[in-house]
Order: sequence, then C-alpha cells, then structure tokens
Amino acid sequence: MEFKNISLEIRERVGIIKMNRPDALNALNTETLLELSQAMHNLSFENENVRVIILTGEGKAFVAGADIAVMKDMPPLKAREFSHLGQRVFHFIATQEKPVIAAVNGFALGGGCELALACDIRIASDKAKIGQPEVNLGIIPGFAGTQRLSRLVGIAKAKEMIFTGDMIDATTALSIGLVNQVVPADQLMNFCLELANKIASKGPTAVKLAKTVINQGIQANLATGTSYEKEAFSLCFATGEQKEGMYAFLEKRKPNW
Ligand code: COA
Repeated sequence: MEFKNISLEIRERVGIIKMNRPDALNALNTETLLELSQAMHNLSFENENVRVIILTGEGKAFVAGADIAVMKDMPPLKAREFSHLGQRVFHFIATQEKPVIAAVNGFALGGGCELALACDIRIASDKAKIGQPEVNLGIIPGFAGTQRLSRLVGIAKAKEMIFTGDMIDATTALSIGLVNQVVPADQLMNFCLELANKIASKGPTAVKLAKTVINQGIQANLATGTSYEKEAFSLCFATGEQKEGMYAFLEKRKPNW
C-alpha cells in the first residue's frame, strides 16, 4: 500500500512510522487512520525482523488531534463511526504484541495525546505540548482518552486536563507520569532508537509476553493477573529463547535470538 499521510521506515529491528501531514499538524482524518492501521499491521504481522516500533510526527506536531475540518459538519452517526475507527486503530496499537514507543516531538493534542497513550512508552521532546483540548470545541475525547488517560495518570489529573482543555509542557507531563522521559528536541530520535534497539536485543517472545501480561493484568484482579503471568512464564520455556538466554549467561556470551 502506498502511503500519503504517513511514512514507514525499517532500520534493522526497529520500524518507524512517521505521521506526515505537517501542513495540518498531522491531524487525523479517516485516510490517515487507515494508513496508520495498515502500517501497524505490516510491522506487527509481516515483518518478523521488526521487534520494536517507534511512532513519531513530521514537523512541529506529533499529532494535533482528530481533523477538525473533517468533523465540523459530521452527523452524529458519522461521528460515532469516526470514534469507533480511531478507537479500533488505537486498540490495535495497544494490544498487538510488539512494544511501541511514542517519540512525542511536538504538539500531542486530542487524538495525538490519545495516540501517545495507546503506545507502551512515551518519550517527549522538551518542546512537546500535550493535552486533551476537545472541550474547547464542544466535544469530549473520542479515541479513548477519557479511559486511557485516567488509567495512566489517575482520575484527578485526567479530569483536570480533560475539563480545562489546557495543554501541559513536557516537564509537567513527566511529573504526572504521562511521559516516561523528557529529552532535548534534537536528541529525541536518537534516544528513542537507542531505547528501541536495547529492547530489540532482549528475548523477543519474552518482551511480547511481558507486554501482553501487563496489559491484561492491569484490567484484572491480582489473582487473575498473576495467573496470566504464571502461564506466560511457563510459555517462555517452550520458545527455545529461554534455553538460549540461560545457556548464554552460563557460557558468558551474548544470547543469539
Ligand atoms: N484539525 C485540522 N487542522 C488542524 C488541526 C486539527 N486538529 N490542528 C491544526 N490544524 C491546521 C490549522 O487549521 C492550520 O491550517 P491552515 O494553515 O490551513 O490554516 C495548520 O494546521 C497549522 O495550525 P496553526 O493553528 O496555524 O498552528 P499554530 O502553531 O498557530 O497552533 C495549535 C498550533 C496546535 C495550538 C493549533 O493548531 C490548535 O489548537 N490545533 C487544534 C488542536 C485541537 O483542538 N485538537 C483536538 C481536536 S479534537
């Protein structure tokens, strides 16, 4: 599939999806969501070499939200479909098994904040501005922001951000646990690539299982979550990667997986 609004690059074990519609600050219209979905499917299922995915944006925005020009005259059922599509694409990003790092290079607003929330790890440039400004437009977040933001930063901070629509800077985002780390803008991609390569050098099935168990367990009670963990732990012993990892340790060499 030819992409118009995103770009896809593979650097060894890391796939990089760049939102690439800078004239509209990478705003998400239907076409862009479908392209993002297709690119994620490619990296998840059709590229075995790719172990980690980085999502970022071209220009001064990561993503400045769902496309307001597209939404302005939407009838309610179209709006419902649009919300459903965004939620489905982001759900896929969150639940497919390869780790996804959001390299938040600039504005991550509305759907942009929600896209970053669907990723596993968020690294922000010191120039990033993050928010859920939907109430300024007379709507609420529709791509799962009301749900993922409150689960990540707690209900109080999520309500403050969603009720006021205020943007927060990267340092504030770090202080509330919305991003994992803040780095200078010119070092963002190198930092994310190093992080991605580090994760890619670990037991690949172990990393995938860890992601899945953490995601499933956080929605369950402790007994259910630990039971998922036990089954996934035992599955590691069926992959061959566990033997390679443990023998490599004992033989004082790097594992080869
Ligand atoms: N949807 C559609 N177009 C958008 C957009 C969005 N979410 N965000 C920005 N754009 C467009 C602008 O309309 C403008 O287009 P134009 O050049 O044809 O006029 C272009 O991107 C550049 O944006 P501009 O507002 O001129 O940049 P800025 O640096 O002055 O301000 C923002 C940047 C992010 C503060 C501002 O664009 C903004 O508030 N965007 C909307 C954010 C939002 O409400 N998102 C949630 C949507 S549900």
